Formats: sequence, C-alpha cells, structure tokens
Amino acid sequence: MGTLDFTGRVAVVTGAGGGLGRTYALDLARRGCKVVVNDPGVARDGTGGDVAPADGVAGEIRAAGGEALAKHDSVATEEGGRAIVRAALERWGRLDILIHNAGILRDRSFAKTTAEEWRAVMAVHLDGAYFVTRPAFLAMKEARYGRILMTTSVSGLFGNFGQANYGAAKMGLVGLVNVLAIEGARDGILVNAISPTAETRMTRDLQRDGLPDVSRDPAHVTPAAVYLVSEACRDTGLILHAGHGFYGRIQVAHNGGVFLGREPVSAETVAENWGRITDFSCVEIKPSLQAYMAMVYAKSSV
Ligand code: NAI
Repeated sequence: MGTLDFTGRVAVVTGAGGGLGRTYALDLARRGCKVVVNDPGVARDGTGGDVAPADGVAGEIRAAGGEALAKHDSVATEEGGRAIVRAALERWGRLDILIHNAGILRDRSFAKTTAEEWRAVMAVHLDGAYFVTRPAFLAMKEARYGRILMTTSVSGLFGNFGQANYGAAKMGLVGLVNVLAIEGARDGILVNAISPTAETRMTRDLQRDGLPDVSRDPAHVTPAAVYLVSEACRDTGLILHAGHGFYGRIQVAHNGGVFLGREPVSAETVAENWGRITDFSCVEIKPSLQAYMAMVYAKSSV
C-alpha cells in the first residue's frame, strides 16, 4: 500500500475546531487535501459560539503550507449545512469528502431529560447530518465520486446510562449510513461510520475509576477516519471502531432466526420458542457500552 494522497481533493470536516475533527482536518491537509474547517466554536452543551477554534485550525493548516477555509455556521440548520458545502464548491469547485463529526452532549437520565435537551442533541448530530450531507451528496452525485463519514458512538451502539438523546441520535446515523451506502453506490459515493473513543473536551471529565491505563490519544482515531475517506477505501456501509490502538468492525447482526410454520402462531408459541428465536450464541453480544469497552480495554492494555 502506497501513501494515501489527497492532492486535489476537497473535504468538509464539521466540528473541526477541536478534538477529533481537528486531527482529521490537519492530517487530511498534510496529505494535500483542501479543507473546510467547520466549527461555530460552541461549548460542550452546544451553547455560545466563538470563531477562534475554526480560525485557529485553518490557520494551523495554512501555516504548514496547506489550504483551508474556516466556516463558522452551525450544521443544525438547513441554511448552515448549505453554506458549509457551498463554501467548498465556491472556493475550490468540488467536494470529494464529508466528515460529519460535529457533536454536543446534554447528558441526563431519560426520566429527567427535557424536550429541549432531546432536541438540542438531535439537532446537531442527526438533523445536522441531514442538513450538511444532502447538499454534499448532490455535489458528489454530479461528480460521481464521494466519501462520506458519519460519527456514531458506542453509547448508541451498545447503550449507556444518561445518554438517551445522544445514543438515539448516534444510532440514527447508522440508519442513515445504511441507506446512503445503498443510494450512493451507483455514483461512486462510499458512506461509512466511525465509532471513536478518545480523550477530548467531550470525554475529559468522564469517570475513569477502575478503568485500565490505556492510551486515549485522538491520534489513534485519525488514521481510521482518514483511510475511510481515502480513494483507497472501497468499502461502504461499515461501522469502524477506533481508539486506544484498537481497530475493529461493529455490525448490526442477525441470528439466523427460526421458522415457526406458514400458519400464524400464538403469542404462547412465541414464548415457548423464545430461546431459539433469540439465540445469539454464534456471535458476541455486548449488553452495554461498559461491557463492550471492557473487551476493547482488555485488548488495548497489553
Ligand atoms: P469535541 O467537543 O472536542 O468536538 C466537537 C466539536 O463539534 C466541537 O468543536 C464543537 O464546537 C463542534 N460543534 C458542536 N455543535 C456544532 C454545530 N452545530 N455545528 C458544527 N460544529 C459543532 O468532541 P470530540 O470528542 O472531538 O467529538 C467529535 C465527534 O466524535 C462527536 O460527534 C462525538 O459525539 C463523537 N464521539 C466522540 C467520542 C470520544 O470518545 N471523544 C466517543 C464517541 C463519539
């Protein structure tokens, strides 16, 4: 495998003013990609705003000899999504890569979650995906080439206390990936999801008592994201977990099922066959984020 070169390619990275998005933008730019660094510079809960994070990352790229454009719109509005994509098209005449990485948190147990907290999280992660991806997808269809990467999370894939809004939004993105992978295929548009774990502003103050001392450097995630949006990547519809030096695929799976006959059966028959219907002994099932991460940590703390 030769060097992954992005010369001539143009990328939009949402939420690229800090954390993981910043590392994606810097590595893509270092490899010759022109990058729209999108970030309104909000706080972790989505409030406020500051041009400095996006301007800073775009400045870092230019200082290193790359090409970048800072864009401060929120992905959470239709106009914002359009403006972010338009910036790439107007400046460089094309858009090859979209990494939808923007994210906020409003953690609270479901019983206490307000509609406002629910909507705020959906707006950035899931509505934002629609608002920024649709104009990008249209441009990619016309060019008959595209790489789209959504950001999912083990919170949604496996479940985590206090993150109903976030988990639902992140799992919603998996559905979007599944559909776009099918709809994009004939136009050369590959659509995948990354499930990162790393220490960033979003996760810095998480309770880590009792967890092993693994590396939480976002730099472990960056190469997976960059490969997934490269020309070399030929896969679509995948969910890839990257973090701590661990790389693995996560998949919505089924168990083969049971045929109970052509005639409709009773609920009692379903109950009687429950063990066979739900048997998943052939694959590993993790009941929570913690159970899944225990496996990741076990493999990462050598
Ligand atoms: P971060 O908080 O450092 O980065 C998120 C960025 O998104 C921030 O710079 C923020 O200003 C930006 N953002 C927020 N609302 C926005 C909006 N409306 N429009 C555009 N940008 C907006 O956090 P981190 O960890 O770098 O998160 C990146 C992505 O990875 C997020 O989608 C997050 O949910 C996801 N993720 C991170 C994990 C981790 O362990 N750090 C675990 C699982 C998922």
